[in-house]
Formats: sequence, structure tokens, C-alpha cells
Amino acid sequence: MLNKMKLWKAFNKEGFNKNEFLNEQFNDSQIPHHVAIIMDGNGRWAKQRHLPRIAGHHEGMKVVRKIATLASRLGVKVLTLYAFSTENWKRPKHEVEYLMKLPEEFLGSFLPELQAHNIRVEMMGHKEQIPSYTQRAISKAMEETKDNDGLVLNFALNYGSRDEIMWAVRNIVKDAKNGIINEDDVTENVFSQYLMTKDYKDPDLMIRTSGELRLSNFMLWQLAYTEFIFTDVLWPDFSEEDFLNALKEYQNRSRRFGGLKSEEQNE
Ligand code: FPP
Repeated sequence: MLNKMKLWKAFNKEGFNKNEFLNEQFNDSQIPHHVAIIMDGNGRWAKQRHLPRIAGHHEGMKVVRKIATLASRLGVKVLTLYAFSTENWKRPKHEVEYLMKLPEEFLGSFLPELQAHNIRVEMMGHKEQIPSYTQRAISKAMEETKDNDGLVLNFALNYGSRDEIMWAVRNIVKDAKNGIINEDDVTENVFSQYLMTKDYKDPDLMIRTSGELRLSNFMLWQLAYTEFIFTDVLWPDFSEEDFLNALKEYQNRSRRFGGLKSEEQNE
């Protein structure tokens, strides 16, 4: 556990020296390259306060800003956030409409701040079903941040992993029919190139908030060797401290990718 007092002092201090603080708390070589988050619990957060569910989504949007800027400062390279799944269309119409308006509000308010942090905005998911105003807001942000080489803030929007895998298979079959690839070419690496994450490494760390212990059709292929952290904290309550604690826990995990640690090789 991080020392809470120290953390808050550090965050609130004028001229807080991030590097000095992080060197003390983290092993810099073990900052995860790619973090994926299932942002869950917005509805319950709102219910606890006798507010409509959309109030929880709005609060959740503010947490996106906080965690994205912190991840960028820490040197995380890719942050993938599950913002809307292919199954979320089943929700009441007004909730879906609200969720679809959030990217416009978020980017309208925070794009300058994302720019200042050298963050590149990306999206994975099928664009066609998304309202045109949502598409426009995201395309604008993607265009304006395309030359930034800091954190990639990758919104999974109208994303479903089974759908992604199915489209990969269809495209492989198509390319095989057209003589672009042969059966023997279809390796794990080649298959990965047919997925929406083709430009990114697989996540090192996946965090799910709100105490639910499932993947909900999120990055099923990519999470094969990812470290999972499930926390009871509801997404609107998820703090910078919670994110740092997750990273700290990640750094204490032993990743073996199915093999053995080097010191175990000769036992
Ligand atoms: C799940 O909580 C959350 C979602 C389906 C939406 C997540 C979206 C955000 C956090 C905002 C995204 C911001 C941008 C900028 C796109 P839930 O509603 O299922 O919560 P519950 O399980 O408590 O009902």
C-alpha cells in the first residue's frame, strides 16, 4: 500500500516533483505500457445518491480526464477505456443518447488539456452506428492530436470483442480467397494484425471497477496474459490514489507468460 498521507501531500504540494515522488514509489521500468479499464459502477454511484443513472456517467467522464492525465504523467503509453459496448445499445434510449453525447462534451471541454499533455485520442469500435455528432467530435480530436506522441487515449466505443474477432476471421477468409494470404500465414501475430488493436501491444494491466468479476466481452484475445485487478470502488469514485495503488499491485505481480521465472529455471 502507498502511504496515503505522503501521496496526498505530494499531489497537493506546489511545484510537486513528480519524478522525485515516483522514483520513490515506483520502479520506472515497470510502468505498464498498456492499461485497459472497464469503467463500471456509474449507475450504482448515482443510485446511492438518489440521482439518475446519467449523473453517474457524467461524474465518470470527469474521472476519465483525471486518470488519463495521470497515466500520461506516469509514462503509460496506451490507455484503453471501455466507454460503450456493442451490448450497451440494449439500455434505455435516453441513457444511450446521453452516453453518446459524452465524447462531444468531454472533448469539447478537455481537448486543450489533452493537447497540453501530448495525448493522442483514438477510438476502436464500429463507427457506422454511432450518431454523427459523436463521430465528428472523435474524428476532430483524432485529427487534432494525431501528431502527439505521448499517451494514446483509446476509447472503446461501440466495441465488442466477439464482434472484433468475428470481423477478423471474415477479413482473413476474404484475404485468403483473394490470394493475399495462405492458410500457413495465419499465425497469432498475423491474426492480431486483423484486430482493432493492431497498432498496440496487448494490455499489461486490466482494471475493472465496481466489484464485478467478469470481462463483459472486452479484449478477450488481447487479455490472454494481462494482469487483472478488480476493485470494489465505483468508477466515479475511482481516484488517482486508486490508480497508483493498482500500478503498485501490478509491480508486485510476477509475470511469467506461461513459463518460469529465470531463478526457477534450474530448480
Ligand atoms: C458502466 O457502468 C459504464 C458505462 C456503460 C459507461 C462508461 C462511460 C463513462 C465512464 C464515461 C465515458 C466518458 C467518455 C469521455 C466517453 P454502469 O452504468 O453499468 O454501472 P452499474 O453497473 O452500476 O449500473
